[in-house]
Amino acid sequence: MRMYDIIKKKRDGLELTSEEIEFVVDSYVSGIIPDYQMSALLMAIFLRGMNQRETYDLTMSMARSGEMMDLSPIDGIKVDKHSTGGVGDKTTLIVLPVVAGFGVKIPKMSGRGLGHTGGTIDKLESIPGMRTELTKQEFFDIVKKVGFAIASQTGNLVPADKKIYALRDTTATVDNISLIASSVVSKKLAGGADAIIFDVKVGSGAFLKDIDRAKELAQLMINILKRSGKLSRAVLSNMDQPLGRMVGNSLEIIEAIETLKGNGPSDLTKLCVHICYEILDLVHIDVSEKQIMDEIFSGKALERFAKFVEAQGGNPKIVEDYSILPLSNETVEVNLNKSGYIGKINTELIGIASMVLGAGRSKKEDTIDPGVGIEVLKKIGDYIHFNDPVVRMYVSKKSDVDLAIKLIHDAYEVVDQSVKPHEILLGVIE
Ligand code: URA
Repeated sequence: MRMYDIIKKKRDGLELTSEEIEFVVDSYVSGIIPDYQMSALLMAIFLRGMNQRETYDLTMSMARSGEMMDLSPIDGIKVDKHSTGGVGDKTTLIVLPVVAGFGVKIPKMSGRGLGHTGGTIDKLESIPGMRTELTKQEFFDIVKKVGFAIASQTGNLVPADKKIYALRDTTATVDNISLIASSVVSKKLAGGADAIIFDVKVGSGAFLKDIDRAKELAQLMINILKRSGKLSRAVLSNMDQPLGRMVGNSLEIIEAIETLKGNGPSDLTKLCVHICYEILDLVHIDVSEKQIMDEIFSGKALERFAKFVEAQGGNPKIVEDYSILPLSNETVEVNLNKSGYIGKINTELIGIASMVLGAGRSKKEDTIDPGVGIEVLKKIGDYIHFNDPVVRMYVSKKSDVDLAIKLIHDAYEVVDQSVKPHEILLGVIE
């Protein structure tokens, strides 16, 4: 088999065989195929597309390129949750302790944030002492004891995705449904869970801005998983404004804890309860959304969260005492000098503003500051008077405050007519 012939075939819009796809993935990971040939193939795939069978084969070859986790030492049904990434998305921190209360086990591997979206691992690391690099034994033991654990992705899980994603990132080939689905699903398959729930974000702060493309991606990911014998489902959720009110690392931990205490913002609470419901229904556990809310109001989910923090080396007292978390005490409020209704928010710009304050990374090597971020004071549909601030920024000496203020001004659109607040739930794909 020659890479040249495979590139030419895809360039001409033809279908690749399973053997050709396996050859490409194996040879690229082992360094036999150079980056320039792989880049050409990725661009041909980007322009010509892949059908469902090709996408399935690509996903399976990628998943098998490294270690496939064997979760059999953990009894019961194992569930994984994946968000396609958003701004202020702390749902994992709320959903996991709640569904664990109904007997589901969640051994979750998470990533770090990049660009305008945050990552669960970064958020957790704002808790003093918290460890996310766990040995396999520790990971399994914590899941058995607490019901869930959250670890950073290990080095040898899907090496093909690491290498291919880095190339896609520099060759303008990220934004293709088949390539995104194979990248995401290969990691879920290697993670070893029996059932996977996706939270596919749609809107100005999401990777996918358009509902039809989000539905297409969700359906494709579900089809691949079904073909490989896994249960899966996708919730489509609105990312036309930040989720909840907090964007940043310590800030999002505080908001997650408040939500576990039953004091969360309504959009965040509604989305989390719904994701919990879909997870439990997917694995045939019959509970109502009321029973899920009761699990929160009883304080048991919060107790489980504290237990999880302690099991991973963190200080469990953070659930009662937020002063333990690193949070900047220097704040800047941003005022638009306009009055009217908030009509639109370019949420990606809010994410970038949080990043330039130091809460996120523009490139992988950047370090983040857990104590900075943005508190969103006004959301779509809210009325602002001339002097009302729309956000409160938590800043440090290293924050680029002027740029963040400009981004906030660019992000908010104020209109004269009243605007209906947005629905958080946009649908479910089974
Ligand atoms: N997230 C991933 O893991 N992979 C993609 O290709 C895009 C988003």
